[in-house]
Formats: sequence, C-alpha cells, structure tokens
Amino acid sequence: MTIERLGIVGSGIMGSGIAEVAAKAGAEVVLRSRKQETADAMLVGLDRSLTRQVDRGKLEETEAHAVRRRVSATADLEALADCDLVLESVVEDLAVKKQLFAELDRVVKDGAILATNTSTLPVVEMAVETGRPDRVVGVHFFNPAPAMSLVEVVRTLVSSDETVAEAVGFAQTCGKEPVVVEDRAGFIVNALLFPYLNNAVRMLENRTASRDDIDAAMKGGCNFPMGPLALLDLVGLDTSVAILDALYTEFRDPNYAAVPLLRRMVVAGHLGRKSGLGFYDYAKK
Ligand SMILES: NC(=O)c1ccc[n+]([C@@H]2O[C@H](COP(=O)([O-])OP(=O)(O)OC[C@H]3O[C@@H](n4cnc5c(N)ncnc54)[C@H](O)[C@@H]3O)[C@@H](O)[C@H]2O)c1
Repeated sequence: MTIERLGIVGSGIMGSGIAEVAAKAGAEVVLRSRKQETADAMLVGLDRSLTRQVDRGKLEETEAHAVRRRVSATADLEALADCDLVLESVVEDLAVKKQLFAELDRVVKDGAILATNTSTLPVVEMAVETGRPDRVVGVHFFNPAPAMSLVEVVRTLVSSDETVAEAVGFAQTCGKEPVVVEDRAGFIVNALLFPYLNNAVRMLENRTASRDDIDAAMKGGCNFPMGPLALLDLVGLDTSVAILDALYTEFRDPNYAAVPLLRRMVVAGHLGRKSGLGFYDYAKK
C-alpha cells in the first residue's frame, strides 16, 4: 500500500516538521491537534517555513503553493478516518499515547497503519491497545525533521513484515534513509546518545567546565555540528527527561538516570528553545 494520505497527531516541534516532509513528498497531510487554534498555528508555521525556502531560492513558488494545498488542519480526530497511515507525535507519555492509540483504532479505517514517533517508549504497549497490533510500528523521525535524513522504523514482537516494509517505503518516499530496529527503549540513536547528553549536564553541574566550553569541546574535538547542551535545548528538556526516564525504566543503567539539574530546569519551566530559555537564552538572539 502506498501512503497517499497521512494523518499526524500532535502540534509540537516534530508534528509540523514531519507534515512538511510528507507534503513535499506528495502526500495529502491531515494535521490534528486538540485545539483548532494550535492546528491552524501549524499551518502558519508551515507557510513561514515554505516562504523562507522560496526566498532563499531553495523551492519554487508554485511548488510551495502545491505543498501548502496538500496540508489541512483539524481538531477533529474523525478527520483521520481515511488516512493510510496515522503517525502520532504527542507528548512523550505512555498513558497519553496508549489512550490515543485506542481512540485512533476506533476512528481510522481498517488496514491503515498506526505509527508512533516515540523516542523511547515501548511501541508494543501502544500496539496492544488496538485491534490491529500487527499494523502498529514506530516511525521515528529526527529533529528537525526536514533536515535530518534518518528514520528509525521500530518493529515490535507483533508487527507484521508487511507493515514494517510499508513503513520503510513511506520513509524512503519522504526522501529519508530508514533503518529497522527492534522495540527496545531508545532504539539505536537515543540509547547511544542520551548517556552522553546526560553526562554533559552532570559535568556542568559538577563545574568541571562551563556551558560554552563543554559545547565548544565536543564541536571542536569530535567535529559534532552542535554541542550537547545546545542539542538538549533543541530536543526540549522535558522531552529529554521523559526519554531518560524511559531508558532508565527499561535498563536500570545509572547513565540513564536524569541528573538533578536537568530535572530542576524542567520544573522551573526552562525547556530549551521551545520555552525561550534552557542552557541558552533564546530571547537574547
Ligand atoms: N523533540 C525532539 O527532538 C524529538 C525527536 C524525535 C521524536 N520526538 C518525539 O516526538 C513526540 C513529540 O515530541 P515534540 O518534541 O514534538 O513535543 P512538544 O512538546 O513540542 O509537543 C508535544 C505535543 O503533544 C501535545 N500534547 C500534550 N499533552 C497531550 C495530551 N495529554 N494529549 C494529546 N496531546 C498532548 C501538545 O499539545 C503538543 O502538540 C514525542 O513522542 C517525542 O519523544 C521528539
């Protein structure tokens, strides 16, 4: 089955980026947020992104209009009924995702794939909430979705080979380079990345080095495009703590135990770029 109509649930950082990628690849995209205002705000964000690309000469104006026409925004879950694949990208909270999968299963047509963009949570837990567990997989895009080439396709114990193959095909149609991974917390990238990010915060907390020197060291010494603290701000510190908690729950490895400073920053509302303040102050830029 080719994915002609894609549903995306969740209007955060990831939902809007994935919508742009899929619409550029030719899919009709239905964006669903709990409130019509936030769904509409995603369209405004998409317009802004497309206009920027036209201004920079990276996209033809006619193509930008065509992409924009393929995307609609709604607060109504029923509007996802005809989608071939629905990808949820709501908050990294298993209880919320499980409830959403049960609702999607009731609403979305038989045979459609239900997928999660979770970074770490057990995909099988969402699959068993549905009457079609074989049609559930993880389709994990990276941030920012338009720029990052990787998609991790997560196969659960009950995903069918057909579903995995269709999800891989969808990612390829989106111009991405998919890898297939089993359903373990953190999959490949976050299982390897988050001990590093967490230990960078520990270094800052222990005053081993300053924020700027930690980030400069990893850019200059490892040729990474950004330092760990800047990357945590990009991911979102609340999402990062949720990722570490899921990794720790699964593996009980102390490297996955979120360091106190990270947790305190989330409580204080310092969530990174999305709140304007994290390890860096974005209001100043
Ligand atoms: N941020 C990243 O770098 C990144 C990368 C890859 C995957 N992800 C995953 O994508 C998903 C979304 O992450 P994000 O960074 O876009 O988050 P975000 O904080 O930017 O957005 C979260 C979205 O969830 C919605 N939401 C919150 N509570 C909800 C509820 N109770 N019911 C329904 N919707 C609710 C919010 O309104 C918002 O639209 C998560 O599963 C995350 O792990 C994030």
